[in-house]
Amino acid sequence: MKVSILGTGRMGKGLVNNLLPHLEELRWGSRSVQRLTELIQGHAYRSKIVPVDYVEALEADVIIHAFWFRDVLPWARANRDKLSGKIMVDIANPFTEDFNDFVTDWGTSAAEELQKLLPDTKVVGAFKNTFFKVLEEPLHQGLRSDVYVTGNDEEAKRTVMELIEPAPFRVWDGGRLCNNRTIERMTLFEREVAVRYGNYPYVSFRMFGMNE
Ligand SMILES: NC(=O)c1ccc[n+]([C@@H]2O[C@H](COP(=O)([O-])OP(=O)(O)OC[C@H]3O[C@@H](n4cnc5c(N)ncnc54)[C@H](OP(=O)(O)O)[C@@H]3O)[C@@H](O)[C@H]2O)c1
Repeated sequence: MKVSILGTGRMGKGLVNNLLPHLEELRWGSRSVQRLTELIQGHAYRSKIVPVDYVEALEADVIIHAFWFRDVLPWARANRDKLSGKIMVDIANPFTEDFNDFVTDWGTSAAEELQKLLPDTKVVGAFKNTFFKVLEEPLHQGLRSDVYVTGNDEEAKRTVMELIEPAPFRVWDGGRLCNNRTIERMTLFEREVAVRYGNYPYVSFRMFGMNE
């Protein structure tokens, strides 16, 4: 299975560092392949990384984007045909610029909007509640945090769960894509509380009572 991660920002880097050790090869995409090539010099798993642009990154079975919601929509629209039949993992939280609200309506979510735009692509939501600092240090007092994986295509959701499983997170079946209406709102609430208590951005969820 070929996997691509798109974007070299905070989440892109964190996802690469957590998923790459368990993959044979990863296509890592950026608007600037030159900048990316410099970035991965000296990376512990350099030999497994194929630096690519956002067109070459489409040559994968599973494509994980680490773009902002405002940027993923035009990119997805422009590449709709090439994304057909593939699994697209969506991590976006569609917050307003001031992080006080959502740019999406109540009755939808970023993941669903992406799925509407890409009807022939299997959109799977994941990592929405995991702030970037947690990707840098995934264990807190020896405990892993939760990643809720959602999708309307059961097989695609299972594929993504298996992909994440070796990484240091508890991976849960989060149900259908519409659950992202809740999951994405949980992230904004989580952020607000963490800011109030001085923990932001080292914050993620761990559901009490669930088995390891
Ligand atoms: N930050 C968090 O803790 C967190 C937690 C959970 C979910 N998320 C979600 O993860 C996504 C990424 O967040 P982030 O904090 O990693 O953002 P970021 O650091 O700003 O990175 C975004 C990346 O998107 C790429 N990109 C592609 N097209 C772009 C464009 N037109 N303009 C600007 N950048 C573009 C860039 O990579 P290249 O320069 O390599 O092209 C950029 O580094 C967001 O949707 C956010 O809601 C974030």
